[in-house]
Amino acid sequence: GEGWILVAGSANVDYVTRVAHIPAPGETVLGLDYTLSAGGKGANQAAAAGRAGGRVRFLGALGDDAAAALLRHSLSESGVQDGSVTLAAPTGAAFISVSDAGENAITVASGANRLLSGEHLGDLAGVAMLLLVLESPLETVLAYARRASEAGCVVLLNASPARPLPAELLACVDILVVNEGELTALVGETGDLNAKLSAARQLGPQTVIVTLGARGSMALSPAGLTEVPAHPVTVVDTTGAGDTYLGVLAASLHAGLLLPAAMQRASVASALACTRAGAQPSMPWSSEIDVALAELGR
Ligand code: RIB
Ligand code: NA
Repeated sequence: GEGWILVAGSANVDYVTRVAHIPAPGETVLGLDYTLSAGGKGANQAAAAGRAGGRVRFLGALGDDAAAALLRHSLSESGVQDGSVTLAAPTGAAFISVSDAGENAITVASGANRLLSGEHLGDLAGVAMLLLVLESPLETVLAYARRASEAGCVVLLNASPARPLPAELLACVDILVVNEGELTALVGETGDLNAKLSAARQLGPQTVIVTLGARGSMALSPAGLTEVPAHPVTVVDTTGAGDTYLGVLAASLHAGLLLPAAMQRASVASALACTRAGAQPSMPWSSEIDVALAELGR
């Protein structure tokens, strides 16, 4: 594809601890060690897209601290051009508990991410696709979506984590990607998945994709309904799996793949990310995705 994929969104360092089970309110659970690694939904999606071969630029807000250096290092290793701004707040941090069953619970300290604003978005010349996610201030996300839509960029929104959204935001979005809970939060209990996808399309996006974990993913687009099965794997840690799906989907669409093939590639990459711990450390490069896809084809 011509031009850049711009990912604008959050960057966090992830403090990850494995625990027997996710603590309930008021409960303390003793884990063993913790790992510190690169995360944040925006940076994760940029890293996944970069590793999948996309020409990617990242715009995020970082602090002036060691966490920022760790994040910049992971982005550059993933082949992402970093256009992040350094602001007067600590780099975002996510405190993640991963249970033995592979489930997670995440608390995010937004830090510098909450200072990302409309004026940080530079010139959109050369940007073909803008990828947005909801860990940044909603007015910033809206301002970016509006500008990108006016500039004729393809706007891809991952409406995660679930938040109430202004109608104008969805009207600027071309491709919306959500999980089942986020889809229901957007359209309510309007019937089966099919009905919910078509209700979401009424809100503006041409294409709505719902990721269904072990059940794969499903899309409603002008071409109709597309269903892609999940690639079965042994789950170690699902953290970053959704972000991997988004990044690889964006890179694949930008490279010219049709929606079903792009979804398949994203689905396989996301499964691979579940087999390893952490968010960015678990993301596959395109060569590994190709091998897994070839195995599926046999
Ligand atoms: O989607 C996973 C991400 O959510 C983690 O990397 C963490 O930083 C939180 O933002
Ligand atoms: Na992972």
